[in-house]
Amino acid sequence: MGSDFDELRRRREKARQGGGADRMARQHKKGKLTARERIEILLDDGSFSELGMFVRHQSHDFGLEENRPAGDGVVTGYGLINGRLVYVFSQDFTVFGGSLGEAHARKIVNVMDLALENGAPLIGLNDSGGARIQEGVVSLGGYADIFYRNTIASGVVPQISAIMGPCAGGAVYSPAITDFTFMVRGTSYMFVTGPNVVKTVTQEAVSAEELGGADTHAMKSGVSHVTCDNDADCLIRIRALMSYLPQNCEDDPPRSDAAPPAADDIDAIIPDSPNKPYDMHEVIGRVVDADSFFEIHADFAQNIIVGFARIEGRSIGVVANQPAVLAGVLDIDSSVKGARFVRFCDAFNIPLVVFEDVPGFLPGTDQEWRGVIRNGAKLLYALSEATVPKVTVITRKAYGGAYDVMNSKHIGGDLNFAWPSAEIAVMGPRGAVEIIYRKQIAEATDPEAVEEEFIEAYRQKFANPYVAAERGYIDDVILPSETRERLASGLRMLENKVVNHPRKKHGNIPL
Ligand code: HXC
Repeated sequence: MGSDFDELRRRREKARQGGGADRMARQHKKGKLTARERIEILLDDGSFSELGMFVRHQSHDFGLEENRPAGDGVVTGYGLINGRLVYVFSQDFTVFGGSLGEAHARKIVNVMDLALENGAPLIGLNDSGGARIQEGVVSLGGYADIFYRNTIASGVVPQISAIMGPCAGGAVYSPAITDFTFMVRGTSYMFVTGPNVVKTVTQEAVSAEELGGADTHAMKSGVSHVTCDNDADCLIRIRALMSYLPQNCEDDPPRSDAAPPAADDIDAIIPDSPNKPYDMHEVIGRVVDADSFFEIHADFAQNIIVGFARIEGRSIGVVANQPAVLAGVLDIDSSVKGARFVRFCDAFNIPLVVFEDVPGFLPGTDQEWRGVIRNGAKLLYALSEATVPKVTVITRKAYGGAYDVMNSKHIGGDLNFAWPSAEIAVMGPRGAVEIIYRKQIAEATDPEAVEEEFIEAYRQKFANPYVAAERGYIDDVILPSETRERLASGLRMLENKVVNHPRKKHGNIPL
């Protein structure tokens, strides 16, 4: 019996060594942790239960039969984050470069199926050379099995991807289907085809980092949602994100202790001049619980801000125009960024709080030709479709179609507040006057003075919140300093909101 136990201990120890000490040292030298070290940081101490430690590939091609390491290059199982169940896979680059073959894929599929059946989040730590070349089409089949489950699980359980090494070829489409992708600066990259293929096809000389590194995907493509400085930072941030999310679409988000925001000088934020920018982060930080804002897509399409926060310990999703970037205008990227975030919150019962200061949609051929119409429609659609509690605070401008889009009452906003500085109208005063009084201005002896008079009259009439409030389009005009309390009581009031849309198979707006 003792020798049986020893055999098990020996096998376990061998499996834990992955590709061996040398390859682990190489991993460390690159600034990366090993698959198991990552799991240790991600999960609560001692909570990991491994599944499939002894799984080995059955391949007999290209000499693979001589090399059949236990675990097949991926560590899978389940554990706890802040006491709550999650399923995990962590690819081991020290074994076949973390490449994905049949057995490796089956292990991932197993935890995906468990996550779906048991209603708990799935976290994938990706570090892989892609399809295991020696296993051929079987690897491709394994990827497709994963993509299919990512799709079926979307909107049922939260799915998080960390890219902690290479992620190339079709493999990138699993993270892309999941809800949030974290990337590590300097050691991770994602691309459909690497720099060599790019050079051949488009004659562009580009490094892997430039083509698909963490900063590239954070700033240019929007593929990555959170950029991390190193592996540990990435894993700790995933733990933080999980604190806002429910286990599944039938569950409510967890509650935390509430602490009021540190600064309370919110009344002074809006500048005197309507054309002067201010940073909407300053508003968010003075309304939500102290240090609770977790920004998503912080470096992409910065004219809109999205992220999770808490009010009175309850999770909320914040969507906010950012007047400090492009005057907070809506364009293609900001619409898509906002829409995707809204859909996540709606799928997972997280109330939405919208802070609005938007001069409209961005004009011009670039936007029109690239489809600001079909892309702007995504944000409109997502906010219209969302059935979670939806609250809006108009801090300043709410002009044109963007007024409708940014969670107006007409598309289902439950509580719509405006600050006294709000301007709610079809367009800004100067643009409006130049159209409706063009003739009178042209014929005036002093056109400039007349134009200014018309602008002042227009401003008096429309550049305020009271016309909209008279119609009931705004539920109340509130002081900035009253915002936190009004949102808190509003969210309490809306806690049991139920809205049922007509039954259908699904809508037809891809996001
Ligand atoms: C089998 C692989 C592998 C792969 C790496 N290895 N990628 N084995 N299949 N796809 C092995 C290497 O042979 C090596 O084994 C070990 O992993 C470490 O790899 P190195 O090359 O030494 O590491 P490094 O220099 O860091 O380079 C990493 C890399 C490179 C950039 C990822 O290995 C690479 O280019 N690999 C091939 C990538 C690729 O073309 N994959 C297929 C993509 S297509 P030893 O024994 O020497 O340590 C794809 C399609 C998915 O993935 C489709 C889904 C629909």
